[in-house]
Parts: sequence; structure tokens; C-alpha cells
Amino acid sequence: MMLKGRKIVLGVTGGIAAYKVAELVRELVKAGAEVQVVMTRNAQAFITPLTFQTLSGNPVTTELFNLIAESEIGHIALADRAEVLVIAPATANIIGKIAGGIADDLLTTIVMATKAPVLLAPAMNVHMWENPICQENIQKLRQRGYHFIDPEAGELACGYEGKGRLAETPTIVEEICVLLSPKDFSGEKILVTAGPTEELIDPVRFLSNRSSGKMGFALARAARRRGAEVTLISGPTALAALPQIKYIAVRSAAQMREAVLKHLESASILIMAAAVSDYRPKQKAPEKIKKSKLPTVLELELNPDILAEAGKKKNSRIMVGFAAETENLLQSTWQKLEKKNLDLIVANDVTLPGAGFEVDTNIVKILDRSGKVEELPLMTKEDLADYILDRIALLKKS
Ligand code: PMT
Repeated sequence: MMLKGRKIVLGVTGGIAAYKVAELVRELVKAGAEVQVVMTRNAQAFITPLTFQTLSGNPVTTELFNLIAESEIGHIALADRAEVLVIAPATANIIGKIAGGIADDLLTTIVMATKAPVLLAPAMNVHMWENPICQENIQKLRQRGYHFIDPEAGELACGYEGKGRLAETPTIVEEICVLLSPKDFSGEKILVTAGPTEELIDPVRFLSNRSSGKMGFALARAARRRGAEVTLISGPTALAALPQIKYIAVRSAAQMREAVLKHLESASILIMAAAVSDYRPKQKAPEKIKKSKLPTVLELELNPDILAEAGKKKNSRIMVGFAAETENLLQSTWQKLEKKNLDLIVANDVTLPGAGFEVDTNIVKILDRSGKVEELPLMTKEDLADYILDRIALLKKS
């Protein structure tokens, strides 16, 4: 949703990684963005304009002077239209040209004319990347406010190993989202928890729950996009690490408690989306329990309530909890808001299809201290994360 209707001008320059940018265009278009591709002459030696035209659904522009198209998609029109200008792959040549103020083709002219943020994703041979001239150009452009996504290390098309591979598509998409997001949380330090906890019975068996971490990760991602410094404490999850976010991996509720209390001090906002196990086995066997000796009844003890403990140290912090319920949703959620000293609590009825654990969507009610209940329709966890941040932004103002 974040990219829906957003106007992205994508410059493609002449490197072998140009073929990977076809996937980037697909992902951006799938997310609802309006993508206008501009190719340099060299780029067309690697991939045809027709590929990008088909994938973007828009004409691809390649020439600075085109008498028929100039009035509609000329360089100034494209420069003005862009909400963000992305160059991927960005060769050493285009970086050098931009740094040197050269505007001798359509793409470099757009770069010179645009007021939009410019994001470059370099890809080249490792020696070209390491060349001090290239590094100086990058340094100079960074100082001028140009944004870069560093290439990744690995096997390069030229046969070398080293830094120079175009960043992965999701990384580029994420940086585009960062550039397109408002920065209403800059200066805030947000602590987010995600995922389940695992409570060991013996070294190989544990008690846990179905949390995938998606809700907490969506919150962490959205907060970082909006300028916050984010620390994410998560139980075990299969989700990929998020760029520019401090990540603390934990397993048990006890470990999560320790990590939360340690980082709470410096946080201005705490959002607990983790599904913390309420109980843990009273005994943890040091060795794997033999099948013949497995108990049929497990003795449990209560885990600490992390959020309630944090709530006692609330001070001026904004604190948001979640409540996963299968019955009496509102009644027990009010009690949790009260008991844990929260500003907001997000209640999901996890029995509804499309809500709660594992899925990419959620259906929630948001309750606040004033007694207000806001009922939200089914939405993606990504959109819900932004909505929750909008609500927190209102609390910050009040
Ligand atoms: O991870 P996903 O698959 O995306 O699923 C998302 C989710 C369903 C896990 C998430 O939306 C959610 O509801 N998280 C909270 C689940 C939960 O543990 O609810 P609860 O009602 O048991 O706990 C209430 C609040 O207290 C929660 O903020 C919880 O983090 C916190 N808590 C609970 C127990 C405990 N011992 N310590 C806590 O801090």
C-alpha cells in the first residue's frame, strides 16, 4: 500500500545487473507504483526497452531529444514527475558523470533537473568499486544528499569474487519506501518485540505458540521508514533480517524480559507485539528425556509479565500492547490495558480468518486510555503498522 500510486522514475544504466532490474520493476508495479523507466544507450546493449515497457506498462524513454514524445515525457517532465529517482544498476560511469556535473543524455539530464531524492544502487567489478576515483565520487555525492545502496559481496559476472553485486530487489524496494515515507518519528527510539517465545522442556522440546513475527516486524519496518531508531527484540522466526534495525534474537520469555528491561531505559516508545508464553515448564531436563520417561503431565510455572513490569517504569514513554483473544475480546483487553499501564492496546480476535497469527493481514480493535474503541477492517499487517504509528503520533502531540 505504501507504494500505491507513487511515481518512481527508474534509470537503468549499462551493466550486466540490468537484467535483475526487470524483477525490481515487477515488484514495484505489483505494489501499485507508477514506474517510468529511462535507459541509457549502454543499458540497451544488455536488455531491451520492450522488456521494461511490458513490465512497467509505460513507454520507456531513451533519448534526450524526441520530437514526438518530448512534450509528454521530456526530461523536465520526468524530473518533475518523479517522487523518487532510482538508478539501478548504477555503473561507475554514471556515478562519475553525476559527480562531475555532466548532463549529456536523458538520464543525466533528469538527475540534474530533479528535486526528488535520488537513490543509486551501484553494481560493477570489484576493482572498479574499490577504485579511489569511484569511492571519492560516491563520497562527494553522499555529501550532496544523494542516497546509495551499497553493492553486496559475492561472485561477480566478470568472474571475480568481491563487493560489486547489485543489492537484492527487496533491499532496493525497502530503501525506496524509506525515501517515500514521512519522517515523523525521527529522534524517537522505538523498542518493538515480535514473535513467539520458546520454553524448553529439555534440549530438543519446547512449549511455544503460532506467532510468526510478522506483526512485530511490520511495526519495526514502518517505524524505521518513518525515521525512528528501532531496536527489535524477537523470538525465533523465519523472517529475513531488516536493514538498519538493531536486532536482538531471544528464545525464552526470561531472555525477552531481560532484553526489554535493558533497552527500555533509552526507549521513548515500547510496542509489544510478541506472543510471550505465559507459562514455562517448572523443570528443564539437562538431557533429552527418553521417550519411555516422558511425563504425561507437565508441571508449569508462570512466566514474568514483561509488559506489566515495563508498565511500572512507564514515566513519559508511550506504551502499546497487543491482546490475542479467542473470546470476550473487549472485556479482557480493557483489563490488560489497565493492568499493564498502557496508552493503547491492539486487540485481535485470533479466531477470525485473516486475523492474528501467521497470516499477512489482521483485523483489530484499538482501545485507548480514554475508553475509546476503534474498530478497523481487514488490512495488511504493513498497513496496520502504519496505522498504529499514526495513532502513536497523535499521542505524541497531545
Ligand atoms: O507474529 P504474527 O504471526 O504476525 O501474529 C501476531 C500476533 C497475533 C502474535 C500479535 O498480533 C499479537 O496479538 N501479539 C500479542 C499476543 C499475546 O501474547 O497476547 P496476550 O494477550 O497474551 O498478551 C498481552 C500483552 O502482554 C502483549 O502485548 C504481550 O506481548 C504482553 N505479554 C504477555 C505475557 C507475558 N508474560 N508478558 C508480556 O509482556
